Amino acid sequence: MVGYAFMGAAHSQAWRTVNRVYDLPARVRMALICGRDELKVADAAGRLGWEGHTTDWRRLVESDEIDVVDICTPGDSHCEIAIAALAAGKHVLCEKPLANTVEEARQMATAAARARAAGTRAMCGFNYRRVPAVTMMRQFVADGRLGEIRHVRAVYLQDWIVDPQFPLVWRLQKDKAGSGALGDIGAHIIDLTQYVTGQRITGVSAVTETFVKERPLPAGSSGLAAQADGHGQAMGQVTVDDAAVFVARLDGGALATYEASRFATGRKNALRVEINGSLGTLVFDLERLNELEFYDATRPTAEQGFTRILVTEGDHPYMSAWWPPGHIIGYEHSFTHQMRDFVEAIATGTDPAPSFADALQVQLVLDAVTRSAELASWTEVEPALAEVAA
Ligand SMILES: NC(=O)c1ccc[n+]([C@@H]2O[C@H](COP(=O)([O-])OP(=O)(O)OC[C@H]3O[C@@H](n4cnc5c(N)ncnc54)[C@H](O)[C@@H]3O)[C@@H](O)[C@H]2O)c1
Repeated sequence: MVGYAFMGAAHSQAWRTVNRVYDLPARVRMALICGRDELKVADAAGRLGWEGHTTDWRRLVESDEIDVVDICTPGDSHCEIAIAALAAGKHVLCEKPLANTVEEARQMATAAARARAAGTRAMCGFNYRRVPAVTMMRQFVADGRLGEIRHVRAVYLQDWIVDPQFPLVWRLQKDKAGSGALGDIGAHIIDLTQYVTGQRITGVSAVTETFVKERPLPAGSSGLAAQADGHGQAMGQVTVDDAAVFVARLDGGALATYEASRFATGRKNALRVEINGSLGTLVFDLERLNELEFYDATRPTAEQGFTRILVTEGDHPYMSAWWPPGHIIGYEHSFTHQMRDFVEAIATGTDPAPSFADALQVQLVLDAVTRSAELASWTEVEPALAEVAA
């Protein structure tokens, strides 16, 4: 694994857990974790359960003992590490968004397509697909329970940078993060809604805004927490969006609206998706992630209404290995489910999803949103190249 902070900890927990919960055709050994600071990465290795540590990610790529490289660093290093790892025959799990630019994402998807021919697997970490209620939404749509999809309404809202004194962490720097709320949390709702509906976004009309344009330089940061340097003078330019709002058309005919913001005061990690079809509606709210709301318009009118399904039964996706019905699960379980599917795909020689090609398509949507906001006009999403569309 490369990176040991927020996602490093979330992925480590999942790697530690996956073989204990699921009966898999392969066993995971947590061999080596990489970070840039020797003392901190040594501490992280012990805390998170890794056998060894290194400050050079190339050691992971070169080691004969390693089969899988898990990339949990900011977007500016995804492309170089992933391409080197795939070329060395390592299976790669890479955090989202796949890259900082379409060009990098294209290179990564091309490398993954090439590696796939040699049996090497690559997957992007859009973990919310693996919240059981979300997986179940996709099944409902695929089974035709919603009929024809007319509307998709998706928001992903946070508030951790409302304070203008919150420092200029890497997530607020374009060269490190690629974009702001758009690529960080907007990417999740783009992937989630395309996954659930089986439809792809074809064009967008967007506005973006950077409400606070300068911030104090950070003294230190980890995950979504950070401290300013305490002197209050040194300031730096915010080079990403604080919020992105867009309307979109999907290729199956649906109209969609998306809102991603880090300025939604009071909203901590509020991801909510509603899908309206000709036969029904589904609603998912991450703050109540064990539940799925379903309105079934085919029922007799006297019985119609929203049903709250508690997604904890053994026959719900991923749930048979957890607890008895009604014993709820949380955020971290989505990562365990992600590792389960990834390990199973590697061990059985099948393609895990979302592939790098899927993640490239999300990157093309992000790019269309950015261009639309700049041009103040409707913008088509560029098609991915055929050679990476596997
Ligand atoms: N799936 C999700 O829900 C989710 C949530 C948060 C972040 N992410 C994604 O995960 C990735 C990491 O985000 P995070 O929140 O864990 O960030 P973070 O700041 O908490 O951690 C980043 C880690 O990467 C290390 N690092 C940075 N550059 C490095 C390099 N060149 N070589 C080695 N290590 C390096 C840092 O030392 C740190 O350990 C990003 O792509 C982000 O978009 C995904």
